[in-house]
Amino acid sequence: MQIAKAFGAEVIGVCGPRNVEMVRSIGANRVMDYTREDFTKSGKQYDLIFDCIANHSLSAFRGVLNPDGKYIMVGTADGGGRWMFGALARVLGALVLSWFGRQKLIMVGAKVVKEDLTILGDLMKTGKVTPVIDKRYSLREVPEAIRYLETGHARGKVVIIF
Ligand SMILES: NC(=O)c1ccc[n+]([C@@H]2O[C@H](COP(=O)([O-])OP(=O)(O)OC[C@H]3O[C@@H](n4cnc5c(N)ncnc54)[C@H](OP(=O)(O)O)[C@@H]3O)[C@@H](O)[C@H]2O)c1
Repeated sequence: MQIAKAFGAEVIGVCGPRNVEMVRSIGANRVMDYTREDFTKSGKQYDLIFDCIANHSLSAFRGVLNPDGKYIMVGTADGGGRWMFGALARVLGALVLSWFGRQKLIMVGAKVVKEDLTILGDLMKTGKVTPVIDKRYSLREVPEAIRYLETGHARGKVVIIF
């Protein structure tokens, strides 16, 4: 969200009630609380949807994307385990749907590229991107960190300190 905003996008952040103020404070033009509002039923159209949760159908996303819009899926709410199967079905569905019309539905995996990290570092230095760090753990506490992540309610990132 912050990166899109830094590149000039108008951004709507979707989050739970306890994160509304935080998401607003890091630059969302508008915040929707998912317990009160369903962004796929708000009557708005979007150019790009960046989806970490995948809890709406692909057709719901298509319905709120502009004709040239893009849907990018990066993860699912249930993180590990079952998600690979669900994600695979979703990727195949997205591929097929992308053949029809101009909308693009794709899944993206992060690649660590030095040039991108440099851009990200510059955005942080200039205050355009502010990391949100929920908890810090030592290397010894990694199992606890994973358990916390698996609750699906971490607030921002969890980091391991070496
Ligand atoms: N493709 C890739 O390269 C890549 C890279 C990194 C991560 N991922 C995946 O991306 C997903 C997200 O990563 P993450 O590290 O942010 O996971 P995470 O730590 O599990 O995300 C937790 C956050 O999601 C929020 N959330 C839960 N349900 C939501 C909903 N319906 N709408 C909006 N927000 C909701 C939670 O808020 P509440 O506590 O208020 O519910 C919490 O703040 C995971 O599935 C992860 O595996 C993919």
